[in-house]
Amino acid sequence: MTEPSITDSMLARVGGADAISRIVESFYVRIEADSHMRPIYPEDLEPGKEKLKLFLLQWLGGPPAYSQRYGHPRLRIRHFPFVIDDLAAGRWLRYMREAWQEEGVADDVVGVVFERFGPLAHHMVNANQDVPRDPVGESRLE
Ligand code: HEM
Repeated sequence: MTEPSITDSMLARVGGADAISRIVESFYVRIEADSHMRPIYPEDLEPGKEKLKLFLLQWLGGPPAYSQRYGHPRLRIRHFPFVIDDLAAGRWLRYMREAWQEEGVADDVVGVVFERFGPLAHHMVNANQDVPRDPVGESRLE
């Protein structure tokens, strides 16, 4: 079976940078309201939002602004300072999916995207693992 592809036209179908921005804002509203999720995130949510927007834009085939500014995403390593358990991975996926649906992104696009996000989110789980918790390189915002 071929991997579903993330292409330029996918970004267009999502609705471009403005749609990504709205999706991330809506995702963060849900994070802020969740008493398990909110404490995982830093006090100031704004810098993280901006990084996630740049990352998703790049991941969907847009300009590589995230990597130009921050280098290779190395997502698992960048998440080490934040203790992420199975519950958090499940909620991350749920809130992200709700945000995409709220934006009105077509189901086939959401399907392809979440086929990728699913394993990625579970790969981010690091609770009860002996990983370095100190900020690693760019893992915290300057
Ligand atoms: C599994 C549950 C997840 C949790 C609880 C979580 C939580 C976090 C937290 C707390 C931060 C730091 C935000 C900040 O510095 O303000 C972060 C950053 C980030 N997350 Fe996640 N995350 C999860 C999964 C994911 C997944 C699946 C992706 C990718 C699709 C992702 C992409 C990012 C990106 C790009 C950043 C910014 C990294 C940087 O440059 O420092 N996260 N996440």
